[in-house]
Amino acid sequence: MEEVQKRIEQLRTMLRKYSYEYYVNDAPSVPDSEYDTLMNELRSLEQKYPQFHDPNSPTEIVNGTVSEKFEKIVHKRMMLSLGNAYNFEDLKAFDEAVRKEAGNVRYEVELKIDGLAMSITYINGKFYQAVTRGDGEVGEDVTANVRTIPTIPMTISLKDEIEIRGEVYMPKSSFEELNAKRLENGEELFANPRNAAAGSVRQLDYRIAASRKLDGFWYHVCDAEKWVDTHSGSLQMLDELGFVTNPVRKVCDTMEEVWEHIQDMTGKRSSLPYEIDGMVIKVDSLQAQRQLGTTIRVPKWAIAYKFPAEEVVTKLEDIFVTVGRTGKITPNARLTPVRIAGTSVGFAQLHNLDNITAKDIRIGDDVVVRKAGDIIPEVLRSLPERRDGSQIPYEFPKVCPVCGSPLHKFEDEAHHYCLNTECEARITESIAHFASRDAMNIEGLGIKRVEQLHQAGLLNHIDDIYNLKFEEEKILALDKMGKNSFLNLVSAIENSKQNPLDKLLTGLGIKQVGEKAAKVLAQKFVTMEALQNATVEELTKVNDIGEITAIGLRAYFDDEHNKAILTALKAHGVRMDCDVAQQQESYFTGKTVVLTGTLSKYDRKEATEKLEQLGAKVTSSVTKKTDLVIYGESAGSKLTKAQQLQIETMDEEAFNEMMQEYE
Ligand code: IVH
Repeated sequence: MEEVQKRIEQLRTMLRKYSYEYYVNDAPSVPDSEYDTLMNELRSLEQKYPQFHDPNSPTEIVNGTVSEKFEKIVHKRMMLSLGNAYNFEDLKAFDEAVRKEAGNVRYEVELKIDGLAMSITYINGKFYQAVTRGDGEVGEDVTANVRTIPTIPMTISLKDEIEIRGEVYMPKSSFEELNAKRLENGEELFANPRNAAAGSVRQLDYRIAASRKLDGFWYHVCDAEKWVDTHSGSLQMLDELGFVTNPVRKVCDTMEEVWEHIQDMTGKRSSLPYEIDGMVIKVDSLQAQRQLGTTIRVPKWAIAYKFPAEEVVTKLEDIFVTVGRTGKITPNARLTPVRIAGTSVGFAQLHNLDNITAKDIRIGDDVVVRKAGDIIPEVLRSLPERRDGSQIPYEFPKVCPVCGSPLHKFEDEAHHYCLNTECEARITESIAHFASRDAMNIEGLGIKRVEQLHQAGLLNHIDDIYNLKFEEEKILALDKMGKNSFLNLVSAIENSKQNPLDKLLTGLGIKQVGEKAAKVLAQKFVTMEALQNATVEELTKVNDIGEITAIGLRAYFDDEHNKAILTALKAHGVRMDCDVAQQQESYFTGKTVVLTGTLSKYDRKEATEKLEQLGAKVTSSVTKKTDLVIYGESAGSKLTKAQQLQIETMDEEAFNEMMQEYE
């Protein structure tokens, strides 16, 4: 049983991470199919073991998190997600459940556009507001950006207030064009059109969003029954009002007919000018939809059929390694170029030597390659039955391909490392990381540009970035660098100085400190100075910061070279703090609280952080000054003492309920 609980926790942690990567960073580290598999595993475990139910589980929450940049808007009506189906059996099961509840229904089948969900509202016939889905309850106000999409009507003939939902997406051609331009400028590439669309919609400068050639398909009218009886009728209404709806849609009488249509569209998928990742099947009658209702996460009247990730066979021509900013050596496969999901693929990830050995991948092998979500496709397996004897087992290099230092493998890690901190690859990768989107977000300073500037002797440490503005002459002499590019680069660099502390922390590339840890640390310490002075003990007290990270942070801040870099950044005027998160007024505000016993829902650190956010001071011993003792299972002397001193006590259940209210 302990094993099951452990697995459930592990799945929840992984899924939280992946949905954050997907929705907030626009940079998923695993393919969608992997995400779905883990989500299904969690769902079935939770069904089988209801004692581990948790309202905060990723299965209960509509995925997505709100990032800090835009004004937050509470959706008037929750923006739901969709349940998934992967085969005909899943669809049949859905059909049965629907018919059991609502009798005979017809289905309207649409393409599942791979973009980002958007809600747009019109008041008095005028475009009023555009809000992203966010976590389903609270989204971001991206009105200024969405307004620039030329196909969205700014006025409509209907004067009633109306909320319409749909998908903002980037057409394949705009995506290819954008990435080609980014490649030329040495900027980070977008993984796929969905990420490019999401990244564009979240640009603070609407002119950049406007330049990204976004488009939208609209597929849902809120409270449509005010005007029509069916979902297909609502789409027709949208057509008549001047919205772009997707023309590929069909009303079907049976699930067999739906399946036939899905088969037909699967074959046509690659010829569409935009990406789709499945089909959506919706009960057409609005009355039946109402009868079926929703769960907290998804409607019971609709389901998404997800296409399987496309796999192809090609030849692995060679294996080469690259060096990352931490010195990590990653083996990659050079492939005979092959088209997968609309783009030509010539390289694929091999992860590490253990993976190559375990899968017995040899140079010259025919291999199965998959591309899903990720920019660099992955070699899934080799096909040894196709070998003709000319295939060669791969020998991992002994030295770094860039600086020639011997490679090192730590006992408990799968990767090899170049340990030379002066290795050119590590220097340029670190600088590019500092400038990357999730860190200081300096447009125009991708790895190619960094390498070029480094070779020209202008960029050796991250703080050199802020001196580039003085090197106009030398920079203009570089290849593919015009006056405009230079001015844009300088302005992006200057703007980056205003980034809050968490962005800077992410950019420094401290081991184990990614975006999430950076956010937590920034919120806790508020200034770089406070963080620099924190002891390992103080650091580990912060929720989500383990001992290894804390030791890594201390080592980073104690290093003379790093100290010099931080001083230089400060001298350049780079912001070294962040806004303090607003404390929420609550029942706990101003109270001195003691936690005792075992809390099952939150660990001690989490509960402390949450209480602090709600304005409480959390201390460890019960005294006359204590206002409240919150107790979990097997609480002992502290609870007894509280009772003796007639201090207010609260059991875990009441505490959890209160926390839920504030969340
Ligand atoms: S209907 C309550 N229709 O897929 C109705 N969603 O995986 C909810 N999507 O959040 C959505 N194409 O962002 C619907 N034709 C379509 C869609 C579609 C793409 C997206 C949407 C949704 C996600 C769920």
